[in-house]
Amino acid sequence: MGNIISIVSQKGGAGKTTLALNLATALAEQRKSVLLVDLDPQGGIGLSLARGETAFEGMTEVLSGKLAASDAIVRTKLEFLSLLPRGRLDPVDAALFEESIHQAGWLESVLWPLAKQFDLLILDTPSGLGLPARAALAVSDFVLVPAQAEPLALRSINQVLRVIEHVAANENPRLKFLGIVISQLDLRKNASRGVAEELWGGFSGVLESTIPRTDIIQTASQRGLPLSFLGGAQSPEARRFDMLAIEVSSLIAKLQGDTDGQSQQAERQLL
Ligand SMILES: Nc1ncnc2c1ncn2[C@@H]1O[C@H](COP(=O)(O)OP(=O)(O)OP(=O)(O)O)[C@@H](O)[C@H]1O
Ligand SMILES: [Mg+2]
Repeated sequence: MGNIISIVSQKGGAGKTTLALNLATALAEQRKSVLLVDLDPQGGIGLSLARGETAFEGMTEVLSGKLAASDAIVRTKLEFLSLLPRGRLDPVDAALFEESIHQAGWLESVLWPLAKQFDLLILDTPSGLGLPARAALAVSDFVLVPAQAEPLALRSINQVLRVIEHVAANENPRLKFLGIVISQLDLRKNASRGVAEELWGGFSGVLESTIPRTDIIQTASQRGLPLSFLGGAQSPEARRFDMLAIEVSSLIAKLQGDTDGQSQQAERQLL
């Protein structure tokens, strides 16, 4: 059965959707079959792909019983990447969407059968630790937390970790903390660098891969594309997501005690 990874953060604009979309793309380019699931009533994934209110049916229609989850899956032009979009949701019904996703056992009944068909499911959640994030954590194997490298992020990170601990202890013993991904890091700015140093120094489980603050990520959002799909020379930033995908895959293998998942080699002699 495939693994389910939730992406959650307390803060809005922390880079969850950017992380979810570009990590999913990088993993798919590394030939892992990935289903990217949008649990945000604002439809972050659809917005990032320049597909707005009416483009796809999805979670909303699955919730109303109009569509089976397997029929809501949208295949992309990238062979190993599929989407489960938010669907056509009237903003007036956003609260209902959130409550419905959180109904006991519902998300599990939708996602666990799909998890059998993919290597990984990546769940993008709305900011805050409200019902969709809680429902996502309750069905996931792993959780990744993006932390924006700016001072306010440090204040919220403990709250996210507290909720993850609570869910793992009381609701979902399978849930494992995959780590914190430092996002929007600007090494030229003291404040940004300082936050990254505090995260590295003060928290365990901060990933080595970081996501820099860069205009090209904004450009990709504007164009409605994952970063690696922009034309022109391959940007170093897109390579960051490749490195992140490798790190995530190897962390998953390690947390599962699965050394087979990591490439092994015997020691060799050079001379
Ligand atoms: N590393 C980055 N460099 C520059 N801009 C970025 C970066 N990451 C995200 N952004 C921009 O910041 C904005 C918020 O990012 P994103 O939508 O990924 O955050 P989010 O956590 O999903 O937000 P929300 O809480 O609203 O769902 C977007 O406009 C995005 O293009
Ligand atoms: Mg988002």
